[in-house]
Amino acid sequence: MRHLRVNGQLEAPPLPMAHRLRPIVATALARDGHAPTPSVAAAPWPASHFGLDKVTVYLAATPARRRRVLAGCAADVLTEAFFVEKLGIGFAAKMTLLSLTSDERTVYALLGADEARHMAAVAAHLGERPDAAGTAPEDPFLTLLARAIDTGRRTTLAFLVQVVLEGWGIVHYCRLSRGAVDPALRATLAGIVKDEALHHGGGLAVLGRDGLSPADRRAAEAAVVPLLAMIRVGPQRVVARLDETLGPLGRRERTQVFAELDTERRTGEQLAVLRGFLGRAPALVARLERLGLFLPLSPAQCATVADDGSRAGGDLR
Ligand SMILES: [Fe+2]
Ligand SMILES: [Fe+2]
Repeated sequence: MRHLRVNGQLEAPPLPMAHRLRPIVATALARDGHAPTPSVAAAPWPASHFGLDKVTVYLAATPARRRRVLAGCAADVLTEAFFVEKLGIGFAAKMTLLSLTSDERTVYALLGADEARHMAAVAAHLGERPDAAGTAPEDPFLTLLARAIDTGRRTTLAFLVQVVLEGWGIVHYCRLSRGAVDPALRATLAGIVKDEALHHGGGLAVLGRDGLSPADRRAAEAAVVPLLAMIRVGPQRVVARLDETLGPLGRRERTQVFAELDTERRTGEQLAVLRGFLGRAPALVARLERLGLFLPLSPAQCATVADDGSRAGGDLR
């Protein structure tokens, strides 16, 4: 665990300041119609959402252990969403400063307010804020995103964050919303989907017809290559939760788990979605295609990644 830097600033203030600000945040959110904290469901998504209903080792476990696996998988999904929304606030702040017109500045200021509401809404479903201690998880995907936001230029960031990641976020949150058992969580996620669609549209407008310059494309590629590598390795986090609760799993068991999780089909679908949103940069897509980065790894390859302990992080589901 460590502090996560965004735009050169430590995000966690000293605790006394956090306590003083908490009522201000609550009042501002309430004024915007933010609902009070909902009760936290023990298992917000069923086993089938993660593909666990086909996994032998999961089905053979006791009900208590199955609940623990499911709760862990749900916490991973919500924690990742919390930190992505938090980075979105930093992204909006940077883009507000880089804006070329009053309209653009307004769009990014409002986008930042949306991300702040999303972060609060996701935190409410987690029960406690995952950064309460002023730390963020050592997560390769979050680190990659934070670095991209920190160093990226206006057009590259509009493409990378809004067109690609928020485009992908629409599909991701939609799937999370449809699969959620708890109606409050379903409504929260459906609301986020609508906002992300607007953010995605804003990115397309900023990008305009000209798209990316060669320099922007190279900068985008530097972020997209590791991103795709993280996705190709399949649902490593789900397998890590199985390993933690029901393991340790050997290499053969892991391979079987990845096969039963239908990793190639599910991951292939995710890569196809991302490929679609990258389509605004055809030269980049062609290059990524040549590198084979839209191909999911096999179950045996995914198991090797897990075995090496080099989890690539963003299984993003
Ligand atoms: Fe958001
Ligand atoms: Fe967004």
